Amino acid sequence: MRSTWLAQGIWSTDLRRPGLGAPVSDRISRQGAPSRYDVAMLKDRVALISGAATGIGEAVARLFASQGAHTFILDRDLAGCRKVAESIVSAGGAATAFGGDVRRRQDIAAWVEGAISASGRIDVLINNAGVYPRQAFLEMSEAQWDEMQDINLKSMFHAAQLVLPHMVARRAGKVVNISSVTFHVGMALLTHYVASKGGVIGLTRSLAREMGEYNIHVNCITPGAIKVDAEAKVVTAEQVQAWMASQCLQRRILPIDIARVCLFLSSELSDGMTGQTLNVDGGWVMH
Ligand SMILES: NC(=O)c1ccc[n+]([C@@H]2O[C@H](COP(=O)([O-])OP(=O)(O)OC[C@H]3O[C@@H](n4cnc5c(N)ncnc54)[C@H](O)[C@@H]3O)[C@@H](O)[C@H]2O)c1
Repeated sequence: MRSTWLAQGIWSTDLRRPGLGAPVSDRISRQGAPSRYDVAMLKDRVALISGAATGIGEAVARLFASQGAHTFILDRDLAGCRKVAESIVSAGGAATAFGGDVRRRQDIAAWVEGAISASGRIDVLINNAGVYPRQAFLEMSEAQWDEMQDINLKSMFHAAQLVLPHMVARRAGKVVNISSVTFHVGMALLTHYVASKGGVIGLTRSLAREMGEYNIHVNCITPGAIKVDAEAKVVTAEQVQAWMASQCLQRRILPIDIARVCLFLSSELSDGMTGQTLNVDGGWVMH
């Protein structure tokens, strides 16, 4: 196989390079000339990321900016969102903060128009904002059910409808929707949440079918139990232990682990993929 690849000229540079598998920074310093995948995978791309004041969204924004993207980040916590943007900019990246609630179409429209008027296009949309309050099903009010669907699922309807026309016009784009591994396993006290996250997978698959002819990729990530600050409000130490027992990898999966897969799905490395759901859960669910 290796000789076939070499004969075709594919991978030949990488296969001959010493130190492949070493950390990227190490490979760059040892070899001087990095391949085009070693740096700035999103150079000059315009990326919209929702729910970026903390947690997974913040990690995505920081990673994307470090890879050359101009990030337009939105959160209902405007102060937190501004802090993230300022810290990205002071590290040499590009970020613009927007305050807004993803339930409100007009807030999303202002975010999209802000990015278009500043940059003229949108390359990547990361639909990440979401909430996960626990509630017993028999005591759940209709308002609680509706709020969950509005934040976690209907928000993606608004964002996709407002962003996709810009991608269709350019015949290019990457959309990544954040679902949850709980869709695969089911979870007590989270019926409203798991239903919304199943909807995200359905939306992803059907949008991929509808958008493929325009070269727009729509994929989805199902994170496992990710160590974020918000976890402390809803999760006990025993639950964390039980999750660890279900994972193959014996470490907590972090926001950066999800951000890296977002980067893969937002870059040309995933150009052959659409409609897919990638599990990033330390080997909890396998399918
Ligand atoms: N943390 C996990 O273990 C985990 C696992 C699976 C899936 N997810 C999903 O990942 C996404 C991010 O989760 P996280 O753990 O980083 O959460 P988080 O609470 O740390 O961050 C979520 C961010 O979204 C923002 N947000 C919430 N509702 C909003 C709204 N209506 N409008 C605008 N912004 C809003 C919050 O202010 C916050 O900054 C969510 O969709 C969540 O369901 C998380």
